[in-house]
Amino acid sequence: MAVKNAMTNDFLHSAYGGESLAHMRYLTWADVAEKEGFNNIAKLFRAISFAERVHAENHFKEISGPTTDYTVTAGGVFGYNNTVENLQGAINGELHEVEQMYPVYLQAAEFQGEKGAMRSFRFALEAEKIHAKMFKEAQDCAREGKDLDIEAVYICPVCGHTVYNEAPDKCPVCGAKKELYKKF
Ligand SMILES: [Fe+2]
Ligand SMILES: [Fe+2]
Repeated sequence: MAVKNAMTNDFLHSAYGGESLAHMRYLTWADVAEKEGFNNIAKLFRAISFAERVHAENHFKEISGPTTDYTVTAGGVFGYNNTVENLQGAINGELHEVEQMYPVYLQAAEFQGEKGAMRSFRFALEAEKIHAKMFKEAQDCAREGKDLDIEAVYICPVCGHTVYNEAPDKCPVCGAKKELYKKF
């Protein structure tokens, strides 16, 4: 069902824009990390890029309604630098989502009784908390010239939950089954 209230509608569009920008810039920063020899940090960027796509699609589906034009205003982080600096951009972007954007969007959706948007914003908020932490760990490694010591990254395709090395039996955020997780 389409979103009903104007404010939540605006926030869904803005969040869709922000997630779409994050999806793209993480792919670009993955290529930079790979060129610098950080293959696992590149893997982390590609995996999290997929998680941001999951968030964007969740928001897009909640907007629903008739096919129409809409000008999107969304925050994004810009900069094409080395991996340590790119990771700082990633950390800043994730922290903005965790500390400012999603808590406010979620409150508005709750106030307006927009159940679908509440779900979509909550899924993103929970994943971004994990992303901020993972990017910080990656940056600590990159600063010392080391790659991340990981085997794989798993992403829940329903909510974007992100975990190293092995998927849980059940997604702790949305309850999706282990087999659904996408491996990077
Ligand atoms: Fe994220
Ligand atoms: Fe999930």
